[in-house]
Amino acid sequence: MSAASVRASELVRVHIRWMIRRDLTDVLAAERASFEFSWTEEDFLQCLRQRNCIGMVAEVNERVVGYMIYELHKSRLHLINFAVAPAFRRTGIGAQMVAKLFGKLTSHRRSKITLAVRERNLDAQLFFRALDFKAMRVMRNYYADSGEDAFLMEYHVADEDDDLAPAWTNRIAQYEQN
Ligand SMILES: CC(C)(COP(=O)(O)OP(=O)(O)OC[C@H]1O[C@@H](n2cnc3c(N)ncnc32)[C@H](O)[C@@H]1OP(=O)(O)O)[C@@H](O)C(=O)NCCC(=O)NCCS
Repeated sequence: MSAASVRASELVRVHIRWMIRRDLTDVLAAERASFEFSWTEEDFLQCLRQRNCIGMVAEVNERVVGYMIYELHKSRLHLINFAVAPAFRRTGIGAQMVAKLFGKLTSHRRSKITLAVRERNLDAQLFFRALDFKAMRVMRNYYADSGEDAFLMEYHVADEDDDLAPAWTNRIAQYEQN
């Protein structure tokens, strides 16, 4: 877990559990407050009917204030929807939900988390960067609704062999020095 998530997890007491149908009213309220092109109730239900699709919610004082939907794939988890209600942001709830996902990764099987984030969604990009996700590539015209590009972001479990990797020299610095 990164420094940001450890610090954040001390801020608000959150209960993270599986999503159930009764949560959908609060989930939809947070969804509509968070996204210009929001999912409908049917979108959530259709998604959660898939065998590899999992929903989680974060509760504070028995109120649902955050949710996350992800897919299980052979070698990765793919985050497809995620938000914290605006009034509860920057209190560490998002980081605690992502920490829960980190706990489901193993270095030999599901070793990474992937997600697409809108090019204009700087807040989310900064959030995921703070949790050690890396932007891997641009996916042009990814969103059918607006035609916007997406960044593919990934988090990898540290490989046990990482310490043995060569220390790459910075070629640009070398060039400038010569
Ligand atoms: C992205 C989102 C889920 C983050 O949830 P959150 O609970 O506010 O995040 P946290 O409080 O756990 O933030 C953890 C760290 O991430 C970084 N971070 C979070 N939001 C940030 C922002 N708006 N700007 C810069 N850094 C940010 C910070 O380093 C923060 O630690 P700090 O508050 O101690 O500085 C929330 O902003 C959200 O719901 N956004 C709208 C929906 C959305 O964009 N979802 C993602 C779609 S890909």
